[in-house]
Amino acid sequence: MLKDLPYKARIFILLVFCSGCILALNLFRLSIDTPINWGGFLLFLILTVLSDSLPVSLPRGGQVTVSFALVFASILLFPPFVAVLVAILGDLLSSKRERPYPLHKYLFNSGQLILSVGLAALTYHLLNGRLEPVFMMDLLPIMTALLVDVGINIGLVTIVMALAQEVSPWAIWATNFRWMIPNLMALAPLGVLIALVFRSTGGFGVLLFFVPLLIARHSFQSYMDMRQSFLDTIQSLAAAIDAKDPYTRGHSERVARYAVAIAREMKRPEDQVEQLQYIAVLHDAGKIGIPEAILNKPGSLDRDEFAQMQHHAAIGAEIVANVKMLASGADIVRHHHEKWDGKGYPDGLVGAAIPLGSRIIAVADAFDAMTSDRPYRPARAPEAALEEIKGCSGRQFDPGVVKAFINVYPSLNLSNKAEQKTLAEAAAAREEVASHRQKVPIEHECGDDRI
Ligand SMILES: [Fe+2]
Repeated sequence: MLKDLPYKARIFILLVFCSGCILALNLFRLSIDTPINWGGFLLFLILTVLSDSLPVSLPRGGQVTVSFALVFASILLFPPFVAVLVAILGDLLSSKRERPYPLHKYLFNSGQLILSVGLAALTYHLLNGRLEPVFMMDLLPIMTALLVDVGINIGLVTIVMALAQEVSPWAIWATNFRWMIPNLMALAPLGVLIALVFRSTGGFGVLLFFVPLLIARHSFQSYMDMRQSFLDTIQSLAAAIDAKDPYTRGHSERVARYAVAIAREMKRPEDQVEQLQYIAVLHDAGKIGIPEAILNKPGSLDRDEFAQMQHHAAIGAEIVANVKMLASGADIVRHHHEKWDGKGYPDGLVGAAIPLGSRIIAVADAFDAMTSDRPYRPARAPEAALEEIKGCSGRQFDPGVVKAFINVYPSLNLSNKAEQKTLAEAAAAREEVASHRQKVPIEHECGDDRI
């Protein structure tokens, strides 16, 4: 609903729609005396509707379709107003559209399509674009139209998503759109070819081109499916690790959530944040190689046991190094128990020599460990754990990371619904701990020796 959106997003949507309407009126006036190939318009409209009906969902919301090539061909073939009609009607008639189509989406999509397609078509015609690209100079109007189309489209969608979700446009751009640019640039030549084929052979040749478009769509979908499978696999692996110790249930996911919040607060690039999220989920993957008798021991670890426990960092790094998409994060796993003062393990790295991701996970890990029940001690209150983290700043933890954690702590919303469930589980575990607790060891550091 339009009224449910943040104030700035509503203003932006209305601004885009009104600007689009003004441009559409002007394009209509410019096209009124131009002869129009209505058969060609109908063919491109039908193909665009078909393509738009097979969208690929993006990870942070929004969708992309291969109809881009068909609309781009329309920009090169038809007067600007007709190209805009192909884009808007293709969007509205798509069978994958929500029914009823929410007003704010209708307003924004119509406005941004008119602006991106209309201005790209206008640019192409003003530059006297021709459909015989033999010399480099002939490509200039096409390239300019492409940049205008892609730039306005992605720019407006990025801004509206950032305003609606109240996150930085950079976060939306990096997660959803940066990887799209090469794909759109690859679809653009296909659009040019479709336009050339239509000009020389008519509709039949265009139909032949529709098959590669469907294959391109399949590639988009495969990429998104693979990405999702990758995430699911990581989460299953983390759940398997957590399952070895019922007291750490959900630990990996919570550490990942805190680590992401800290990294964003530290203004890390969004692709690094995403990588850190996966690594944080797997930071204790090496525990799979540690005997359960040590993991679940209801008392302090002796020297040998502690030495065995320390191996989990190196084992985890080896596991992660074998996953091609995560291999660059293996060092982060290896060093997640290093300390700022050099007294950590496995390599005793000091200060900035410790990878930043490891320093971030160290704080997130210690905070979650302190606020969770363990067989050898009950959970602490979040505020008490935060104070302890502050106390260890500059000794165990990177002061910069602690500062970022203090800043994001209020927004971690530890009392939201998901967290309430976790807290309820923690309360049940606490009762169990109380019933057979032996002795609570005196803690000498933030977190404990088994995080
Ligand atoms: Fe660990």
